[in-house]
Amino acid sequence: MATEQQGGPKTAAKIAPATGKLGIMVVGLGAVATTFIAGVEAVRRGLAKPIGSLTQMGTIRLGKRTDNKSPLVRDFVPLARLDDIVFTGWDIFEDNVYESAAHAKVLEKDTLLQLKPYLEAIKPLPAVFDQYYVKRLHGTHVKKGKNKRDLADQVVADIRAFKKTVDRVVMIWCGSTEIFIEPSAVHQSIEAFEAGLENNDIGIAPSQIYAYAALSEGVPFANGAPNLTVDIPAMIELSKKNAAPICGKDFKTGQTFMKTVLAPAFKARLLGVSGWYSTNILGNRDGEVLDDPESFKTKEESKLGVLDYILQPDLYPDLYKDIFHKVRINYYPPRGDNKEGWDNIDIFGWLGYPMQIKVDFLCRDSILAAPIALDLVLFLDLARRTPELRSIGIQEWLSFYLKSPQTAPGLYPEHDLFIQSMKLKNTLRHIMGEDLITHLGLEYYD
Ligand SMILES: NC(=O)c1ccc[n+]([C@@H]2O[C@H](COP(=O)([O-])OP(=O)(O)OC[C@H]3O[C@@H](n4cnc5c(N)ncnc54)[C@H](O)[C@@H]3O)[C@@H](O)[C@H]2O)c1
Repeated sequence: MATEQQGGPKTAAKIAPATGKLGIMVVGLGAVATTFIAGVEAVRRGLAKPIGSLTQMGTIRLGKRTDNKSPLVRDFVPLARLDDIVFTGWDIFEDNVYESAAHAKVLEKDTLLQLKPYLEAIKPLPAVFDQYYVKRLHGTHVKKGKNKRDLADQVVADIRAFKKTVDRVVMIWCGSTEIFIEPSAVHQSIEAFEAGLENNDIGIAPSQIYAYAALSEGVPFANGAPNLTVDIPAMIELSKKNAAPICGKDFKTGQTFMKTVLAPAFKARLLGVSGWYSTNILGNRDGEVLDDPESFKTKEESKLGVLDYILQPDLYPDLYKDIFHKVRINYYPPRGDNKEGWDNIDIFGWLGYPMQIKVDFLCRDSILAAPIALDLVLFLDLARRTPELRSIGIQEWLSFYLKSPQTAPGLYPEHDLFIQSMKLKNTLRHIMGEDLITHLGLEYYD
């Protein structure tokens, strides 16, 4: 009888244990990063719960539904413990993490005061920055170098110095959204990229200098912004060569998170969509950066891709061929980090009769992003310790967290949140030698 599970490889190769300290190098100590760092410390001290984090609060079902076996994810796979995490980072401003968190105004003063000595001690290293790539920022705490290769070497030196104090390192970009860059010749191979570093090729953005340094040092790299960064052949090659896992880009937090929940539901029920208008107001520094058309273009590309892939207009022309999809982001300072995202969705049903859905998500951007940052670094560290995953480059199973999942060349990305969730959990089952869960379940009716 066909079962709800599928042949698990009971001989999974051994995953190295998560012993010792895990160093997390955060690029950009702004709203998301400081909410992430302060949040981890608050949880460690028992002041709050890690809500929104699958690695900390999620469970995973193993075996049959009748087995009643659903351990916590963190008890099932060998993840680094929060107590073993050590943070450092870079920023273009000299503010320490306490000052930057106070400036971001995401967390309440009382919470920050309780954590003040810890947060104050995390001071940014000077950043690799060039205003050409983020027009709205004027960096003052910036590395100087004779060319981009020299800057990459300085980041490598930062990584090596940090490595002396911890056992393993992961890097995560929580920096600003850079201008839109199309892949070009310089991105096509490691050799071309390295020549570009020497020649100061304009196609190499600061985020790529950090990523190059990380991957060269065997350090996994996650990208919270929609920047091109590792989405190029040179970085995929480097990631595989040095067993330094990468994943997609741009934290999937507010509006796109909702979109990748709703759109699959419409498709599953064969409801048509004629229009989807999404607009946002937000007033944090991210909003200010995105007010620049060139940075907005990068974000827009990341946000727009989602619907086409989920709705598959080629397969369902009657339902989705003529969809009008628009995304706007408006900088509105009074709201700070508390973004409001509106969606107006024009759908149609039986015999083509129109209906409308309105979503008004009054969210908190960094509160949604922080647990994603945590899960990504913990899972990338796990991938680096897992023989089957460490040298494959792109970790598609982490698409769950990202607006722009990265895939093998020629493969379309899965954007549907529930497919992504199943893929993630089945990957965990797989690497632990457990049966995969298919949800078939005919065996219960034998
Ligand atoms: N919060 C969310 O829901 C969310 C969702 C998806 C993506 N993002 C992305 O995450 C990133 C961070 O968001 P945020 O709200 O924390 O923004 P932020 O402006 O508060 O923080 C970004 C920080 O990066 C620093 N920075 C910029 N360029 C740098 C460089 N080259 N090196 C080092 N530091 C640099 C800035 O000085 C700033 O402190 C943005 O790109 C944003 O688009 C956020």
